[in-house]
Amino acid sequence: MTQAEFVVVANRLPVDKAGPGEGEDGWRRSPGGLVTALEPVMKETDGAWVGWPGQADLEVEPFDFDGTQLIPVALSADEIEKYYEGFSNDTIWPLYHDVIAAPRYRRVWWDSYVRVNRRFAEAAANAVKENGTVWVQDYQLQLVPKMLREMRPDLTIGYFHHIPFPAYGLYSQLPWRRLVLEGLLGADVIGFQRVADAGNFARAVRRLFRYETRAGRITVPGEDGTAHTALAKAFPISIAAETYMELAKKPEVQARAKEIREGLGNPKAILLGVDRLDYTKGIRHRLKAFGELLEDGRVTVDDVTLVQVASPSRERVEAYVQLRDEIELTVARINGDHDTFGHSAIRYLHQGYPREEMVALFLAADVMLVTALRDGMNLVAKEYVATRNDNRGVLVLSEFAGAADELGSALKVNPHDIDTLKDTIIQAIEMPEADQARRMRSMRKRVLEHDVKAWSDSFLAALDDARAAKERAT
Ligand code: G6P
Repeated sequence: MTQAEFVVVANRLPVDKAGPGEGEDGWRRSPGGLVTALEPVMKETDGAWVGWPGQADLEVEPFDFDGTQLIPVALSADEIEKYYEGFSNDTIWPLYHDVIAAPRYRRVWWDSYVRVNRRFAEAAANAVKENGTVWVQDYQLQLVPKMLREMRPDLTIGYFHHIPFPAYGLYSQLPWRRLVLEGLLGADVIGFQRVADAGNFARAVRRLFRYETRAGRITVPGEDGTAHTALAKAFPISIAAETYMELAKKPEVQARAKEIREGLGNPKAILLGVDRLDYTKGIRHRLKAFGELLEDGRVTVDDVTLVQVASPSRERVEAYVQLRDEIELTVARINGDHDTFGHSAIRYLHQGYPREEMVALFLAADVMLVTALRDGMNLVAKEYVATRNDNRGVLVLSEFAGAADELGSALKVNPHDIDTLKDTIIQAIEMPEADQARRMRSMRKRVLEHDVKAWSDSFLAALDDARAAKERAT
C-alpha cells in the first residue's frame, strides 16, 4: 500500500457493496452528501479514504476505486450495535440535535466508541505520508484527532463536524464531555456548519478547560509541555451545484418531471419533502400542518398533493422504529380521511432514489418543505435551489437548519409554530411568479458561488495556514 499525501477518515467508505452483477468490482459509489462533497478533492490529490464498508464483519484489503485508494475498517456486529447504533446514533446524535429524542448514556457504548475510534486513527496513521494531511469527518469519530496527533505529531489534522454542536446546557449532560472535547481539540482546524456551532464549541471549551481562547483560536497544551493552536470556525458545507444545474437541463430529466406531475394528476401545486426518515427532520410537523390545511378546507386534494420521500435510515435504532410507525400511521390517517378515487393527499415513498430522479422531482415540485427541528446544514434545500434553473418554485425553510444562515430569501419558518407553518405553506402556494423568481435568483447566486468546491477549498486553505504556522514555529 502506498502512503498518501491526503487522507480522509469517515465512518463510511464512499462506496456500498453492490448486489450480484452490479457495480465495478462488486462496489458502487454511494449516493451520500459527504461523498459528493469530497469527490473532487479526492480526485485532485490522489487521496486515500479510510472508512467502514457498511456491513458487519466485512474484512476487505485496501483497494482502488475510481482513482481513490479505499482503506476499509471492519466492524463486528457488536461494534455496529455499540459504537454506531449506540454511542453515535443513540447518544451523540440526539444530544447534539437538541435532545429531540432522549439520548441514552451507556458506558459499554462509550468503551466501544473509544476502541473503534482508535482503529480508525491507526488505519489513518498507517495510510498517510510523513508531514501529510488527514481530514476527519463527523461525530462518529470525535476522538480520532487527538489519537492521531499522539501517534503522528508530524501530521496536519482537520476535523469537520457535519451536525450541530449544542449549547453548553445540553452538552454538559454528556458523562464524557471533557474527553470528547479533548479528542476534537487534537485537530489543527475544527470546522462547523454555523457560526453558532463554533461559538457553542468554544464556550464548552472555556467552561471545561482553562485554555486560552481568542477569536476561535484555542491554545491546547500537550502532555510534553508543548502546545498547539486549534482553530474552531464555521465552514458551511455545500453541494456540487453545477451537477444539479446540468442534470436539470437534460431533456429526459425535464420529461421525467412532467411525467411525475401527470402521474400525480397534474395538481395545481405539488408540495415536496425529501428527508432521511429521522426525527430531526420535522416530518411530523409538516404532516400535521398539511393535514390541518385539508381539515380546514384551505387546500383540497384535487388541487394540492404532498409528496414525501423518506429514505430508510438507522432502522435498528428504537427511536427510528417508533418514528416510522408514527409517520406511517399519520400518513394513512390523513389519506384515509381525504383521498378521493382520483387524488391522493399524500404520496409517501419510503425509498431512496438516484440523483437524476431526485432532480426530476425537484423540478416537478412547486413548493419544497424543509421543516427540520434541528439540522447541521440540510443539503436538500441547496439541491432544490441549484436545480431550479427556471427560477420557479418556493423554498419553505426551517430557521433551525444551517442552510437558513445562507438562504435569506427562503420563506423562513419555525416548524413548532403549526399555525404560522400553515400560513407559510399557503403563502408559498399562492406566491406570484415574479416574487418566486426574485427569491430564487438570489438563493441560486449564493449556492452556485458557494458550492462544495468553495467549501473544501476554504477548509483546506485553513489547514495550509495551520501547517505554515507550525513550520514557522519550529
Ligand atoms: C448525516 C451525518 C452523516 C451520516 C448520514 C447518514 O448526514 O452527518 O455522517 O453518514 O447522516 O447516516 P448513516 O448513519 O446512514 O451513515
